[in-house]
Amino acid sequence: MGSRSEFPVQPIQRFAGKSAPIKRPEEITCFSYDVNREFRWDESSLQYYWPPSLPADLSAGFDTFNKWDDSTDEHLDGLVKALMLHEKSIGERLKTDFVTWRGMMTRFMTAPFDQFNSFDMNATLFQGTIFIEEDHPSKFEDKKEQSNRPPNRNGLSQDIMSFWGYKFESLALIPDIWDNVSRDFIESREEHIVDNIQQYCSVVYTQIGDASLVLGGEVDAVWDRKPDDKTLPINWVELKTSEEIQSERDHIKFERKLLKFWVQSFLIGCPKIIVGFRSKSGQLQRLQEIQTQSIPGTVKRGKASWNGNMCVNFAAEVLEFLKKSITSEGVWRISRKKGDPNISVYKIEETGTGQILRDDFIEW
Ligand code: A3P
Ligand code: MG
Ligand code: MG
Repeated sequence: MGSRSEFPVQPIQRFAGKSAPIKRPEEITCFSYDVNREFRWDESSLQYYWPPSLPADLSAGFDTFNKWDDSTDEHLDGLVKALMLHEKSIGERLKTDFVTWRGMMTRFMTAPFDQFNSFDMNATLFQGTIFIEEDHPSKFEDKKEQSNRPPNRNGLSQDIMSFWGYKFESLALIPDIWDNVSRDFIESREEHIVDNIQQYCSVVYTQIGDASLVLGGEVDAVWDRKPDDKTLPINWVELKTSEEIQSERDHIKFERKLLKFWVQSFLIGCPKIIVGFRSKSGQLQRLQEIQTQSIPGTVKRGKASWNGNMCVNFAAEVLEFLKKSITSEGVWRISRKKGDPNISVYKIEETGTGQILRDDFIEW
């Protein structure tokens, strides 16, 4: 059906040089998922950082993990709903080239330096804006395959290792500013039920090269509180766990992880990442604060396994390619399989917007 456009990832040297212009991401609206995963157009699920006590066992409570059933395809629903409510409140539609989850932009931006990079996305052009969602069926197949993998050498499953990240959040976060939280709550965090159902999502406006974007992404916490002045940057905090670095090989592995940490935080405007280093078996041992903007420089002076400017320039070019390729109605697939030299775009439905957009958003 129709023609296929391709964007070659290599040679990446063509993205070297000064960074394309970028605009600091600014929050335009936000939303929360509550304990029942109900959408709320507010910041009720926003959390605050308060250091955990160390050491701690990240596996504790795995048996009572209240886990979100990720077989549900949420499309762009929360993001588009928050955007619609925001647009209604200001009385006009936002003019932007792209609307998507931050995770989709992360895939594009890390592509030049991530050898395992692969994705399937669906896109549609509506009133001059390209909306991009993840193709959930493809993603879910990958995830199922991952969960079915046998435990690793230490007898640990993918599921428990993924739990560690949520447990760390539960040990390091509080639901309100410190003044409003009881000492009891803070001291009993090790016993709290861990869940990944509640989320706070920030919706930001940003620009990369010649493209304007509205991105939605989860933020783990705020350091102090959100400023009343909406034009001021917000002191977001991203929490990450990582295995303690012991060898040269671990160091290289960690530098590669920093690429994802950096891109994820950079895109939503999160200035600080707190890494909880753990043992191989999941004992949380120490914390390290990393300033997001310092990461590309640190990597450059280290093993230089990736380059931040090249990621930005690559992303700017991919966005231009998408603008030139997705020019008519219908549903388009944006795809890159593992090891594929190209990012491909082709039409999969001639008309409509698939399930990418909610009817109430289209009609308001
Ligand atoms: P870590 O990042 O500490 O491993 P995020 O870091 O984006 O806030 O995500 C929180 C946690 O969700 C992660 O913590 C990890 O435990 C889990 N997680 C995120 N993406 C995942 C994926 N693709 N597969 C498995 N677990 C994932
Ligand atoms: Mg998170
Ligand atoms: Mg996190």
